[in-house]
Amino acid sequence: MTNILQDITKNFSGLFGSKKGGSVIGVDIGSSSIKIVQLKNDNGVAVLETYGSVSLGTYVENSYIGQAVNPTHDQTIQAIKDILKEANITSLNSAVAIPSASSLVFLLELPKAITQKDLATIVPTEARRFIPVPISEVSLDWWMIPEDDVLEGNDDAPAEILGNKNDKRKVLVAAIHNEALARFQQVVKDAQFNADFFEIEMFSNVRSCVGSKRETVALVDFGASKTKVSVVSRGVIQDFHIINRGSQDITRVLSTGLNISLSKAEEFKKKFGMAPNDEYSDAESIIRGSLEYVMSEINAIILAYEKKYGQSIDSVMVTGGGASLIGLVEYMQQKLPASVIKSNPFSQVKVPVFLESVLEEIGSDFGVAIGLALRKLSS
Ligand SMILES: Nc1ncnc2c1ncn2[C@@H]1O[C@H](COP(=O)(O)OP(=O)(O)OP(=O)(O)O)[C@@H](O)[C@H]1O
Ligand SMILES: [Mg+2]
Repeated sequence: MTNILQDITKNFSGLFGSKKGGSVIGVDIGSSSIKIVQLKNDNGVAVLETYGSVSLGTYVENSYIGQAVNPTHDQTIQAIKDILKEANITSLNSAVAIPSASSLVFLLELPKAITQKDLATIVPTEARRFIPVPISEVSLDWWMIPEDDVLEGNDDAPAEILGNKNDKRKVLVAAIHNEALARFQQVVKDAQFNADFFEIEMFSNVRSCVGSKRETVALVDFGASKTKVSVVSRGVIQDFHIINRGSQDITRVLSTGLNISLSKAEEFKKKFGMAPNDEYSDAESIIRGSLEYVMSEINAIILAYEKKYGQSIDSVMVTGGGASLIGLVEYMQQKLPASVIKSNPFSQVKVPVFLESVLEEIGSDFGVAIGLALRKLSS
């Protein structure tokens, strides 16, 4: 077991302390598309140099753009090379995301007297309860949650939680299947990247979308295959869930319901979303129906969090390619008990003026890639 991830939740503060020049890239290999951004550090300010993405459906036979696919290693490398070329990316100093689905993240509650040194022996033993495969098949990393980041100062927390705080220490643990790690290491090697760290995508996403906001936010990443929910309080991830439905399920349901091909359904979804249209009057109710399950899961996550921590969720922030669905934010607002907002992962990055409006529209696709590049810039 190696601590290959190193410092999985780098502090948010002082991100741009370093004055080092040079450009870096953040690489997000998602299930439907690869996204890369290149940033540089300009006197302590992160500046966007270029960005690009490709749909993996273009490289895999019998698939459509927007679909979650399983490309071969060579197809993945080809797709990366195409982005580097098309987006004119000049840096190979990269940080690469590990999909949440290839990892397991959980909280351990350990005796308060525990020291950093003890963790190396205690975490692997305690983690066995949470990991469904032999412990030798995973790489582990961990991070002790600072006490004042948990519930300190929260006068609304129930007594038993505050009591708990006094004799327990929370440790966030991440486990990654070695096979998945090896696969990503091979990609880095064959794409000729100089990568010095991998990071599980949820941490990257939280860094760019939530940053150091003090309030409690449920960040919902609508990917193609999965919807990922991280609950973040005072900049620290407290809870994480994967819902096994994604934006491609909307496309599938639309294709069946409207009796059109998958690629036409995908096109329709992106063009009209839940907005009124002249062609298919049923489309909006079909999309609503396909989102019901995800909404009930998000509701359950919010309720369970509020019950466990005695702390309400201030806002639900949507991100990922699927967050661009027209009408989604308004629909979610009707279904969920907190205010719903769209993420703007470029908010911590200086972008050229002519790109501002484009990035507002497509920016949420790049949350993971930006979060990685921000951390890489500061390292
Ligand atoms: N304008 C849009 N309206 C609706 N859906 C959209 C829009 N743009 C992209 N999508 C959908 O977003 C999904 C892709 O999102 P994203 O790139 O975040 O997924 P991914 O990272 O590849 O997947 P995952 O995170 O599940 O591995 C696709 O299913 C696509 O159809
Ligand atoms: Mg994704």
